[in-house]
Amino acid sequence: MRLSYVLGLFSALAVSSLLQAGASAQDAVERRVDDLLGQMTLEEKVGQLNLVSHGPPLRWEDISEGKAGAVLNFNNAGDVARAQALVRQSRLKIPLLFGLDVLHGFRTQFPLPLGEAAAFSPRISFLASEWAAKEASYVGVNWTFAPMADLSRDSRWGRIVEGFGEDPYLGSVLTAARVEGFRKGGLAASTKHFAGYGAPQGGRDYDTTYIPRAEMYDTYLPSFRAAVEAGSASFMAAFNALNGEPSTANPWLLTDVLRNQWGFDGFVTSDWVGIGELINHGIAADGAEAARKAVLAGVDMDMMGQLYIRHLPDEVRAGRVPESVIDESVRRVLRTKFRLGLFDQAPIDPARTDDDFPSKEARQAAREVARETLVLLQNKGDVLPVKSGTRSIAVIGPLADAPQDQLGPHAARGHKQDSVTILDGIRRRAQSAGITVSHAPGCDLMCGSTDLLPAALDAAKKADLVIAVFGEPQELSGEAASRVDLRLTGKQIQILEALAATGKPVALVIMGGRPQILGPVAEHVPAILMAWYPGTEGGNAVADALFGDVNPSGKLPLTWPRATGQLPLYYNRLPTGRPTLANNRFTLQYIDEAITPLYPFGWGLSYTQFAYSDAAIAKRSLESGESLDVAVNVTNKGSRAGQEVVQLYTRDPVASRSRPLRELKAFEKVDLAPGETKRVTLRVPVESLGFHLDDGSYVVEAGAIQVFVGGNSLAESAGEAEIAKTIRMPPEERRASASTGLAQ
Ligand code: BGC
Repeated sequence: MRLSYVLGLFSALAVSSLLQAGASAQDAVERRVDDLLGQMTLEEKVGQLNLVSHGPPLRWEDISEGKAGAVLNFNNAGDVARAQALVRQSRLKIPLLFGLDVLHGFRTQFPLPLGEAAAFSPRISFLASEWAAKEASYVGVNWTFAPMADLSRDSRWGRIVEGFGEDPYLGSVLTAARVEGFRKGGLAASTKHFAGYGAPQGGRDYDTTYIPRAEMYDTYLPSFRAAVEAGSASFMAAFNALNGEPSTANPWLLTDVLRNQWGFDGFVTSDWVGIGELINHGIAADGAEAARKAVLAGVDMDMMGQLYIRHLPDEVRAGRVPESVIDESVRRVLRTKFRLGLFDQAPIDPARTDDDFPSKEARQAAREVARETLVLLQNKGDVLPVKSGTRSIAVIGPLADAPQDQLGPHAARGHKQDSVTILDGIRRRAQSAGITVSHAPGCDLMCGSTDLLPAALDAAKKADLVIAVFGEPQELSGEAASRVDLRLTGKQIQILEALAATGKPVALVIMGGRPQILGPVAEHVPAILMAWYPGTEGGNAVADALFGDVNPSGKLPLTWPRATGQLPLYYNRLPTGRPTLANNRFTLQYIDEAITPLYPFGWGLSYTQFAYSDAAIAKRSLESGESLDVAVNVTNKGSRAGQEVVQLYTRDPVASRSRPLRELKAFEKVDLAPGETKRVTLRVPVESLGFHLDDGSYVVEAGAIQVFVGGNSLAESAGEAEIAKTIRMPPEERRASASTGLAQ
């Protein structure tokens, strides 16, 4: 018998016994759920569907009376222990879920998710989420309202900072990594906001979204689907109405797609009083109707509305909501609690605090993650890194010394006292190089006046190099922070222009939660580094990059516009009948601004240069079950080591409906020593080269597929492959293959 055969047999047996073990563990959970459900009164069942925040309206005795299934905004072990003690006094002693918005750190803050996405690295996303979860779960939090899987093509929307940007493939890979990282660190994920919330009209938070169903499947839903496959314990319904149907009462989203097509068997919570908002949406006359519509559509848990607990028992008794619907919702909640092991967990030690954080290891991880997120947008004349021989640096700008702002929105238990500011980071590093550092804010955070400009110019003129740190203070980013004008706020442009006019070399570090409109600054300031909100260790990471201890490798996870009026703007758009032609007004153009972005999706420079050569498609004619394999040589042509994100895009040039001009299908981040060449092979399953129809089925049409490989979305052609025969897949069949689309 050949060894490979024996090993194959052994692994088949191992897999089948693992599957059996998994199935019997599942059965055991289901038995425990049924047993418990059988003991519950209607009121106790509805209690499990009630999610209440710390503070009013939570009455602590609700917990011992079995009227709360989950709580949120508990962020310390003392409160968790108190609630757990009350659970032990309740009749059925069903443990609570303790939920919190742990998005990018608990005490130690990591870069905001949009910045983290710029690392183009599932490893980095996993690491950041794992750390966030480790710290939060230490004090008893067991459930996070994250990741946010909302794709957005419109940076007027402030919450774009909480997501992964504009690309469905990148979003799927990173959302999965985040779910897995949270779980590894001890937090169950609640992936949000299901769905379409990232495309509100006018970029206005909470506003209506119109997205055709096929486009939902192709663009807005893949990241959520990836979360299901990565094992997200729960989902959160979005505030917005999708095509006229509020997500909180949308049976297509919550039941047809999430449960029936994707097989999700965890639970769905509403967003904050989202059920009550069905009245404002105009689809419910009162709280009872809102509760009824939400639960019938598939929302299992009511966050902060108190409408389920108030109305569902009567709705059941009146026959308007079948008790079986309530049972199913409770089953989903209990199943999740059993799966998480909450019934078998020892109570938390109330003496635990987060004062031990940030630990040295957490700081190291936060610095590592932040370094990978920095995007070098331009570097004319090689202003960066700081040259040897530099004797003095003027650090100008209010965000250079903004310990709270650099933590970004939703900073859980982040303390500004823990922050290493950009000024701190530069000072520490400069000191070891014998460089003197001066600092002048230039203006305050909102930058409403130029009163402080003279002092800033004075400092600039005395220095060899100016490092300007400007952008978007934290309060202008995140939830409820939609903006109509994304220009650098207040007098920032004027101040940066004045700094550039001194003739000193200027490097601009931008802090913020989305692209800032730079106007003339992009032309006059030679070097620009996007730092997002870099977190607790942000200052060290930025200094690492400025001084060249680390070579920037981040890439833009979204398209950077020249003007706010270009939004929504994204690279994977459809062709038009009139592609842009210079000097032809009657083609795709603006008459008052260029049609191109300032920096394309996937863009990011390095202190070295990478060259691509010898791209080759392994097999040109492709059948179902095969993959498009593209190999390319990537060479580091410079004298510094660097990392490059090799990106593969495809286009279906002739199909039964217009297909995007480019779609990212695979990427890989590689390390290259000076002069080194690596042959990188990127693999795309054939089953991810097609598109959806409105019913959720997927088709890969026979015919040519164009391939592009390079370091950003303007990548060069690598030739063509051919799909031999059309492949059609009904929605449920895509279940198994969707995960194979996540090549990383
Ligand atoms: C946000 C959610 C968040 C919830 C709880 C809502 O306002 O939309 O994303 O998880 O509050 O804090």
